[in-house]
Amino acid sequence: MASPLILVLNGPNLNMLGTREPEIYGTATLDDLETLCAETAEGLGLAIECRQTNVEGELITWVQEARDRAAGLIINPAGYSHTSIALMDAVMALDIPVIEVHLSNIHKREEFRHHSYVSRAATGVICGLGIAGYRLALITLSDILEELEEDDQ
Ligand code: DQA
Repeated sequence: MASPLILVLNGPNLNMLGTREPEIYGTATLDDLETLCAETAEGLGLAIECRQTNVEGELITWVQEARDRAAGLIINPAGYSHTSIALMDAVMALDIPVIEVHLSNIHKREEFRHHSYVSRAATGVICGLGIAGYRLALITLSDILEELEEDDQ
């Protein structure tokens, strides 16, 4: 049987990880993040596809694609978390588990970051743990998918 596919989507400015405000986001690069995800997924027997975009519409299109292609979604919507009802709507339309990840602890930061539209549509949210949050999100998705499979039998 083919491994279940997990889509890992990163939003705007996350291509600049490592050099962008390292005191907030850390020194790991997007490459480091994606390598960590690939290694973790391999250990869990999951297939993975990582993508990053600075464009809101593209992120929405990729979320829509997850409907037919993916068993689970990990998304860091970055700045669009706090602004995009359209992105929230796209995530709402999914019936797969979705983990929203933020590298920084958004609740410790400016007030406008405390609210995420996407959180309304997410199964769960991880924030403040740097790139380790993506690893935890993959482990959690693996557990959820196993439980769903057991329920199906
Ligand atoms: C972020 C937090 C957002 O508030 C911010 O706009 C980002 C990154 C994080 O991963 O901590 O770009 O999503």
